[in-house]
Amino acid sequence: MRLTKLGGFGLQADAISPDFREVWDAFFAGQILVFRNLQLKAAQFLEFARQFGRPEPHVIDQFHHPEHADILILSNVKKDGAPTGLADAGTYFHTDYSYLEVPARATLLYSIQVPSKGGDTLFANQYAAYDALPGTMKHKLESLVALHHYGNRDDLDKGSRTVASVLSEEQEKKVTWVRHPVVRRHPVTGRKALYAVSGSSFGIEGMPQDEAIDLLDELRDHATQEKYQYRLKYGVGDVVIWDNASLLHAATLTEPDDPRTLWRITVKEEGKS
Ligand SMILES: [Fe+2]
Repeated sequence: MRLTKLGGFGLQADAISPDFREVWDAFFAGQILVFRNLQLKAAQFLEFARQFGRPEPHVIDQFHHPEHADILILSNVKKDGAPTGLADAGTYFHTDYSYLEVPARATLLYSIQVPSKGGDTLFANQYAAYDALPGTMKHKLESLVALHHYGNRDDLDKGSRTVASVLSEEQEKKVTWVRHPVVRRHPVTGRKALYAVSGSSFGIEGMPQDEAIDLLDELRDHATQEKYQYRLKYGVGDVVIWDNASLLHAATLTEPDDPRTLWRITVKEEGKS
C-alpha cells in the first residue's frame, strides 16, 4: 500500500493493503484515509468497515440500507417524489456520535453519485487546534466536562438546511444527555485534542450557561479556522475514513437537484454502550 499526502493532512492510499495493521496505522497517522475509485458491494463495504470497530446503526432508521442496517444512505435523490436517503446531513462542524456515551471512532463514506458542484467535506484538525492554544487556556480546559446532546448548537431551526437532521418523536426518545471532556485524550494515539466544541456541545458541567456558551463559541471559532482545515473532494467509488476523536467535519451544501449519493458506516470506540 503506497501512501501519499492529501494536502495539509490526511493520506491517500493506492490500494487497500491485505495487512489490516498497515491500514489501521495509516488511518490514525493521517486522521483521514482515502481510497479512490473502488467498486464495492454493500457487504464488502461493511466487511471492510468492521475491521475498524463495531458499526452502530444511525438513529435515523428510515434511511438504513434495506439489507444492511449498519449502512445509512445519504442522498438527495427522490424516487416517485419520495426521498431515497438522508439529504443535507451534517452541514455544520461536528463530530459523529458525540451525543452518545461511547462515540464514533471512525466514519466511512463510499461515494456513489458525485454532484457536479459542491458536496466536499471539510475537516478541521483538533490535535492542531488544541496544540495551538495558549498555556493558560489549556490549563483552564484541563478538567472541564461538556454536556452533549443530539443537535447543532448553532442552528436549532427545524426548517433550516444546517440544522441537525430532524428526528421523529420516537427517535428523539432514544437520545439523551451525555458527558465528554472538552479536551479529550485520543483513545488510540493518546494525543490530546479538542473534542466536539462545535455541534453537540450545549453546556459545561458546573458552569453558568451563558459563560459556558461563550467559552464553547470561542473554542469553536478557534478550532474551525481555515488554517486547521482540509477540503476533501470526492470522485465516484471513493472510500473515505476519518478519525472522529481528532477531527471536526462539515458537509458542504449541494444543489437539491444535483444528484448525490453516499453510503455511510460509523463504527464506535471500545465501550459498553
Ligand atoms: Fe457527520
